[in-house]
Amino acid sequence: GKPLRIGVAGLGTVGGGVLKLVSANADLLSKRTGRPIQVVAVSARDRSRDRGVDLSNVRWYEDAADLAVDPDVDVFVELIGGSDGIAKQAVEAALAAGKHVVTANKALLAHHGAALATKAESAGLTLAFEAAVAGGIPAIKGLREGLAANNIREVHGILNGTCNYILTEMRTTGRDFADVLADAQRLGYAEADPSFDVDGVDAAHKLAVLTAVAFGAHVDFKSVHIEGIRHVSALDINYAQELGYRIRLLGIARRTEDGIEQRVHPCMVPITSPCGATDGVFNAVVADGDFVDKVVLVGRGAGAGPTASAVVADLVDIARGRSTPTFGVPAAALEPAKAAPLSRR
Ligand code: HSE
Repeated sequence: GKPLRIGVAGLGTVGGGVLKLVSANADLLSKRTGRPIQVVAVSARDRSRDRGVDLSNVRWYEDAADLAVDPDVDVFVELIGGSDGIAKQAVEAALAAGKHVVTANKALLAHHGAALATKAESAGLTLAFEAAVAGGIPAIKGLREGLAANNIREVHGILNGTCNYILTEMRTTGRDFADVLADAQRLGYAEADPSFDVDGVDAAHKLAVLTAVAFGAHVDFKSVHIEGIRHVSALDINYAQELGYRIRLLGIARRTEDGIEQRVHPCMVPITSPCGATDGVFNAVVADGDFVDKVVLVGRGAGAGPTASAVVADLVDIARGRSTPTFGVPAAALEPAKAAPLSRR
């Protein structure tokens, strides 16, 4: 079939992973979709760095917004990051130019998800973001497609790989917080600004997106209660263990009488529970549906390979011509995400 032509903006950890995956699994992908997936253009700040793949036949842009409107690009893949600025401009430009968008940008979706979904859907385009939540875990497709028949009562989970890695290493190696965080940065797990990880903001971005999909509600980042892990000490972790618990940074969203409650904070969870058993950079997503009961998804929540896996799964959907409403119900039909007051939680 006709190739699906991709433009990739941002060649950091995830962008590099996507280029590698598309090249390594090219035959498999074209067998699965009936057409080759071709990277035809990229944009990145540093042109000279070796990404381990041959980019000699690929067009280079300095500006992602120019790449976004390249007439040879069918799908714009946004891997720049940031809730506003270049990423937002470029995604809007791509949608305005009639291109599908695949993004790993949870900050962008947490702040502008509903508006972007409206733009995409009214133009008959796909805005896909499997990689934005829980890295390699198919959490979005799992909820939106796999559990589409259920009223979701609650969804919770470990949504930040960096924090879970830090909490796990502090417990198992006794190393201190700063030391382990530096490791997470070196391994490509942490955000460009790692305070987004350790202060719970990244998990809150992902929770807001997951909530929208789970409950068919507007993405409502502002109403997420957020607490990070900076004040969790090795002593806390060890006492919890003596009592049979792990300390995890959880994101929790549930329906209450007053609306949808969303919160991110450290929790004590039984060692043998799904989240208690999830160590290291792994994430976990636990959904509770009225007919299916509890479903647990576990996998790597950060890093080049897992995140690229999710990005390219979205490309496969688009190559197959498959389209689903962005947040599971048409953007115009999303219900308001009225937050429950904290005192009632
Ligand atoms: N910094 C994020 C994490 C990357 O550690 O989970 C994946 O979104």
